[in-house]
Amino acid sequence: MVSKIKKVIIPVAGFGTRFLPATKAQPKEMLPIVDKPVIQYLVEEAVDSGIKEIIFVTGRGKRAIEDHFDHAGELEFFLTKKGKHGLAKEIRKISSLARFAFVRQKEPLGVGDALLQARHLIGDEPVAVLYGDDVVYSKIPCLKQLAVVFEKFNKPVFALERVPKEMVYKYGVIGGKKISSRTYEVEKIIEKPTIEEAPSNLSIVGKYILTPAVFDELAKVKYEPGKELFLTDAFERMLAKGENLYGYEFKGIRYDCGDKLGLLKAVVDFGLRHPEVKKGFREHLESIV
Ligand code: UTP
Repeated sequence: MVSKIKKVIIPVAGFGTRFLPATKAQPKEMLPIVDKPVIQYLVEEAVDSGIKEIIFVTGRGKRAIEDHFDHAGELEFFLTKKGKHGLAKEIRKISSLARFAFVRQKEPLGVGDALLQARHLIGDEPVAVLYGDDVVYSKIPCLKQLAVVFEKFNKPVFALERVPKEMVYKYGVIGGKKISSRTYEVEKIIEKPTIEEAPSNLSIVGKYILTPAVFDELAKVKYEPGKELFLTDAFERMLAKGENLYGYEFKGIRYDCGDKLGLLKAVVDFGLRHPEVKKGFREHLESIV
């Protein structure tokens, strides 16, 4: 299905300041939704979309992510010895989900800068990008939904979600022409607009399929000290040149797990679906609400 897209970049080098102090000494991408770290949901989304090469852009203090996707021989041996064969198998599976590569971003200068650190590993191919904290629960993986749009247009495409008007100031917001039930031809992008400036309430979610042209434009954005390099900086340049970009209102529920409330919602919803704890958790919720 995702024939043309072989690789995904997952930037995970941010400081996660919205989650301090929890993220002082551990990556926010390793915070658990019940019993699985957020980052594993993203790797599984890529794998379930047919992508088997994962490039992490990491930074200092993110070693736990590398370790999570590494082989854990001693742990597997211990679990097997204790007769916990199911768990041992589950642990073994994590390191064989895909092929992993790691590059470093020296300073968290923005997601755009993080992606440029992996540019040399991409060459002349399209590539998927998944932010390390945006989880979507859906029947068809969100990335696979985007791949269908990419196959059609061969142009950059990203996930869109409607947000309440009063929340637009948190997001990159698009204006554009609806060309089919969920697909938009993007005409305008405004990063963190006021309600008055916002061209719509369609916000960009951290899931993309990019072409090499996006990286060319990212590399041309002039560095401004103190300002983060956003992907939208490259998109704005492309729109100014008349290039086509597409947005797709995906089917599914999105959890912004880089945000306290977002992660709490994810834990509640996934907890209520989790075979082992759902009964007891529901009883607890009913007793307090
Ligand atoms: P966010 O902006 O949500 O992450 O970036 P952040 O900067 O860590 O969060 P706050 O605002 O301080 O709480 C989305 C993804 O991009 C990565 C993050 O690790 C996250 O997975 N990122 C962000 C980088 O890799 N490098 C950066 O310079 C910034």
